[in-house]
Amino acid sequence: MGLGAYQTRGDYTGRLDEVQENIRRFGAIDVCSFVPGYFKNTLKNLTGPYAMVFLDVDLHESLRTCLLHLWPLLSDQGVLYTHEASQLDYVSLFFDREWWRTNLDTDSPGLIGAGCGVPTGVARGSGLGYTRKRSTTFALELEYQPFCGDPTQSVRQHRGYAETAATATHSSADN
Ligand SMILES: C[S@@+](CC[C@H](N)C(=O)[O-])C[C@H]1O[C@@H](n2cnc3c(N)ncnc32)[C@H](O)[C@@H]1O
Repeated sequence: MGLGAYQTRGDYTGRLDEVQENIRRFGAIDVCSFVPGYFKNTLKNLTGPYAMVFLDVDLHESLRTCLLHLWPLLSDQGVLYTHEASQLDYVSLFFDREWWRTNLDTDSPGLIGAGCGVPTGVARGSGLGYTRKRSTTFALELEYQPFCGDPTQSVRQHRGYAETAATATHSSADN
């Protein structure tokens, strides 16, 4: 998403001291650390692991950058929230299997609340959505297998499809 009709350059700009003052007044500054700068320059310096990530970053490109850097730092069964859940075109990325496979070598996690937001009790729907990071063995550990099948199979299957497709492409290139 570029700058749209309702967004202009500098919207949401805040100086570090201004942000810190707000956190001091309304939050708990002693448990916060501040990392000024653009995500593409700063996120690579973070180390995690994080039990929770909350993204309110508006722009499609920023969402991609955040997921690329922060998803690997999210601990297994950690939760990632977005504040843009009601925008279906934006959160469709959470269902884009090819993007997740290509960029993060994992299945797309989906998003609870996609298109409407989870109910918070204060309005109809909300902007909030979340997803949970689950290893391929998570469902087995929870004994979901009788209901959902073996999730490791879907990974193997996916790899199998990719290998078959690569072989098919290779052999058609040979002909
Ligand atoms: C809707 S605002 C977040 C508001 C915040 N949650 C609050 O309640 O005050 C979105 C923020 O994401 C920041 N942002 C978006 N893309 C960014 C990027 N690539 N690098 C750094 N900051 C970015 C914007 O500068 C803006 O401050």
